[in-house]
Amino acid sequence: MDRWIFLSGMMGSGKSSVARLLAEWARVGVIDLDARIAERAGMSIPEIFRAQGEDAFRRMEAEEVRRVALGEPNAIVALGGGTVVNVESRRLLLSRGIVATLRASPAELARRLEGMRDRPLLERGEAAQILAELMAAREGAYAECHGTIETEGRPIGEVAEEVARLAREAPIAVPLGERTYRVEVGAGVSSRLNERLDALGEGMALVVTDANVHRAFAGELASSIEGRRVATVVLPPGEEHKSLASVETIWDRALDAGIDRRAIVIAIGGGVIGDLAGFAAATLLRGVRAVHVPTSLLAMVDSSVGGKTGFDRPQGKNLVGSFHQPAHVLCDIDALATLPDVELHAGLAEVVKAAWIDGESSVAMLERDADAIRARDPAALERAVRMAVRTKAGIVAEDERETGRRALLNFGHTLGHAIEAAKGYRGIRHGEAVAIGMIAAFRIAASLGDGAALDRSERMRALLDRFALPTDVSAVDERALSFVGADKKRAGDKIRYIVPREPGTMEIVPLSIAEIRENLFHGTDDP
Ligand SMILES: NC(=O)c1ccc[n+]([C@@H]2O[C@H](COP(=O)([O-])OP(=O)(O)OC[C@H]3O[C@@H](n4cnc5c(N)ncnc54)[C@H](O)[C@@H]3O)[C@@H](O)[C@H]2O)c1
Repeated sequence: MDRWIFLSGMMGSGKSSVARLLAEWARVGVIDLDARIAERAGMSIPEIFRAQGEDAFRRMEAEEVRRVALGEPNAIVALGGGTVVNVESRRLLLSRGIVATLRASPAELARRLEGMRDRPLLERGEAAQILAELMAAREGAYAECHGTIETEGRPIGEVAEEVARLAREAPIAVPLGERTYRVEVGAGVSSRLNERLDALGEGMALVVTDANVHRAFAGELASSIEGRRVATVVLPPGEEHKSLASVETIWDRALDAGIDRRAIVIAIGGGVIGDLAGFAAATLLRGVRAVHVPTSLLAMVDSSVGGKTGFDRPQGKNLVGSFHQPAHVLCDIDALATLPDVELHAGLAEVVKAAWIDGESSVAMLERDADAIRARDPAALERAVRMAVRTKAGIVAEDERETGRRALLNFGHTLGHAIEAAKGYRGIRHGEAVAIGMIAAFRIAASLGDGAALDRSERMRALLDRFALPTDVSAVDERALSFVGADKKRAGDKIRYIVPREPGTMEIVPLSIAEIRENLFHGTDDP
């Protein structure tokens, strides 16, 4: 087994029995977290609660989570009922393996726990009542998982099989409390669309796509949707159509089709379609659900995750929009087969950016996989998309609305956007501009006194070259600089500029436009 499985959920939900069965099937070890804690403390859990109190127990529990998840070989772990309430433990477990939450109603849990004497939290009153209160208090923490599995009325083998399937599918969770959603990545995952829609419940489907994607992929996928009414909007392709007029087309098609609040907007396409359909979903009837099936590499690794939606205005790109997180994302690697080379390369700029934000092992993986990625090897593409989505999901979880850490995702973008704007968004793709913007950021880092910036810049340049991306910073001319101030990420006179260090380390440095110009043009000559 190549990944951890952590079973979470209320006491009595079946974590220990399911863990034992899974471990038997997979022939790996099983760990009962409570048993580990008791063993280390030399006393039972009720004794720890009595002698040292619940807070002390929770500290021991968080320590044990770190010890197990960071220091031991993969295993199946039955967590304690309250383990995931600790946010650090929860996020660590999500990043290390698959977290499955087992569920049952409070009445059923009380029935299963009847007569058990080792549950200190139940000693305080009527069991079903306490269980209901605990469950309500932990709802957001339990929801931050890779999948919630109903156990009531089902044999344990069936529950274990569902956990095993979840581990095989290995979705990436974007943990946002009760708004947590999953991103599935792999060849053929769009064939799960009906199943995922069924899990979201009833409601008509409004498919939004563009003409290119409709021909290549979305037409067939839309016609495979079963068991619900489907309406389809096919927009003309291209950034010039990321407009209010396109949003109106989606609104009107939806309203003419008589949608209600249960409707699900399904965006099948590149970032333009994702942003338009996401915004329409955010605003139709004050908000309906959105499912993204991104079909460009850029949309898979960037725009489909994180909830930013919107459209362009004559004054600039993405100036009107809203945050609206999707309910589910399916990144089908097969869709990339028809994506033109230039679009694939443009998306790779964001993949390189994510790798540099994530750290050394991700940059090294891209260096190793570069040829395979260019040759569209599905396994290499899947690894790259997974890495980028994981990186973005981790940042979005910490800072959904970009008040802090999410700004790191703008690495290469301040000058990248400026280059695009200076060219009137013609003749250069976003990813190409970002590639140049990242190299320019190393030049600025060097000029700010970072002696290692030149070597790092060379390393990134070599990688971008292999992905046929431009790296000549002369595109950042005076005209481009005049557009830096138009970026909405500006705060007062200074721009929160992202200065890259070694992979995995970025700094946010407030710089004025004059300082950016000075460091870019008068710094060292050749980073
Ligand atoms: N919301 C966010 O967080 C976010 C992040 C990054 C970028 N964006 C936005 O994303 C947009 C760029 O996305 P994009 O590069 O995907 O552009 P795009 O949607 O215009 O797609 C690029 C081109 O590829 C075509 N295409 C897409 N998938 C295809 C496929 N599988 N087969 C054949 N053709 C296919 C499209 O029809 C289009 O012509 C920009 O508007 C940008 O602002 C948003």
